[in-house]
Amino acid sequence: MNITYYGHSCFGVEINGKHLLFDPFISHNKLAINININAIKADYILITHGHEDHIADVEAIAKNTKAKVICNGEINDWLVRKGVENTHPMNIGGKLKLEFGNIKAVVAIHSSSMPDGTYGGTAMGFVIESTEGSFYYAGDTALTYDMKLIGEYRNINFAFLPIGDNYTMGVDNAIIACNFIKCDDIIGMHYDTFESIQIDKNEAINKFKQQGKKLTLMPIGETITK
Ligand code: NI
Ligand code: MN
Repeated sequence: MNITYYGHSCFGVEINGKHLLFDPFISHNKLAINININAIKADYILITHGHEDHIADVEAIAKNTKAKVICNGEINDWLVRKGVENTHPMNIGGKLKLEFGNIKAVVAIHSSSMPDGTYGGTAMGFVIESTEGSFYYAGDTALTYDMKLIGEYRNINFAFLPIGDNYTMGVDNAIIACNFIKCDDIIGMHYDTFESIQIDKNEAINKFKQQGKKLTLMPIGETITK
């Protein structure tokens, strides 16, 4: 798998030849000014919830790439009204089988309204299962005992967890989440973009290390292989 960071909670993951894009928030992110959204490849765009910092560039990238947008039903209907034609609604607990692997929608503890105030359904996370490996993309969420179900359900090779605190769990709770999901290889997200979620990156990495876990904080624009 090739993983590219586009800032905030937005990652591209190339898996079995398909490009997945998670929660695109790029053109309004001052830290991501070097990213050209017109150059981003996507076959599937996965949206965890309706907040601006997860959905701002969905319409543009979806129309540009013709990618299928996978999200909850309420966001699906909102996007359709905006002229995004290729969409697929899911809800928590459901699994979608695709050519590259499976997408399972899982619990997230968070709110979800659209940028214009429309009701945005329930926030969710995703577990991606494939022959190249499996991972958990938590979206915006608090630490929750429901994460233990992910640990019991599937071997997770790595996970994207929010660590910025204030709107989501922070570093200390993300370390506990590792134990719940039985995965110690974490890529951090949802930090530094806004003043209220700025973190001490070295301290965060060291806290994980002290617990025998690995926190990777990718530079924006960088690609790694897993
Ligand atoms: Ni949010
Ligand atoms: Mn957010």
